[in-house]
Amino acid sequence: MHEELRYDDKVVIVTGAGGGLGREHALMFGKRGARLVVNDLGGDRMGDGRSSSAADRVVEEIRSAGGEAVANYDSVEDGARIVETALDAFGTIDVVINNAGILRDVSFHKMTDQDWTLIQNIHLNGSRAVTQAAWPTLRNKAYGRVIMTSSAAGIYGNFGQANYAAAKLGILGLANALAEEGRSRNINVNTIAPIAASRMTETVFPKALLDRLRPEAVSALVGWLAHESCYETKGLFEIGAGYVAKLRWERTCGYHLGRNGIFAPEEIAQHWNSIVDFTDAEHPTVMNDSLDAVQRIMADDRRD
Ligand code: NAI
Repeated sequence: MHEELRYDDKVVIVTGAGGGLGREHALMFGKRGARLVVNDLGGDRMGDGRSSSAADRVVEEIRSAGGEAVANYDSVEDGARIVETALDAFGTIDVVINNAGILRDVSFHKMTDQDWTLIQNIHLNGSRAVTQAAWPTLRNKAYGRVIMTSSAAGIYGNFGQANYAAAKLGILGLANALAEEGRSRNINVNTIAPIAASRMTETVFPKALLDRLRPEAVSALVGWLAHESCYETKGLFEIGAGYVAKLRWERTCGYHLGRNGIFAPEEIAQHWNSIVDFTDAEHPTVMNDSLDAVQRIMADDRRD
């Protein structure tokens, strides 16, 4: 077994930490020496209402177990205020866990502007707002661990969740760009797609499955990715029920016509099977990998 991972002297912000996964993340960090900002707006599953009691309860749990924590009740949309709470209480920030979220599930043809906008505002814009407010501190100290919370609904698509899926994959795009911007400053940015029993999933999954999906199982991965000895960045992980795995992009070898690079639709149709054939697929990881194919074609052209 690996030696205990500790976060002594590390200041950790966990958004949406008044319940569900966020609470488990906060309790895990609290037990391991971190100083915490427990943020939660305290509304319901759909984002209606607000209350300070959810965050207060978790702060109390952490303190009574001997940990250090302060509460913040702002919406993640006001990320600067959450960061201000951390700086006022502890003077710095080391780790940002973007976890807060709500659902407004409805099929696309019935989705209102409000269903769409609210979900973008809380998930994508909220993750941006908190992370951007913390970013100067992380850059200045050349240290940071940022974790974004995506979802299988965004990665794979899911009926009735166009708003949520778009926001959750937007979060992955944000994380991927920030991982590149943070690289030279020792700021690692990773994304998790969890699956866990919570008020968000209690009406979606059957009881037998919910019993297996303990939210604290997800916190273990958050703990590792947030630790100073973990160098992973730009990763995307699925985690839940005692299973954890990394995802990556995969690209077919494709088909290239060469010469002037212009295809007719008939030619695409003719070569469709090789375009979609994943035999000997490649795994691009950086923007420049997009140019690989073009560079190969140009090299072939030069040889001709
Ligand atoms: P949850 O509903 O139990 O917890 C979410 C927490 O975020 C709540 O305590 C809520 O009050 C808080 N919150 C909501 N809006 C907020 C805002 N504007 N500002 C601050 N706090 C706010 O849900 P759960 O399952 O713990 O979800 C946590 C994260 O994991 C979410 O981002 C969710 O989308 C994501 N997720 C969860 C999955 C699951 O299987 N439970 C699956 C995939 C993603």
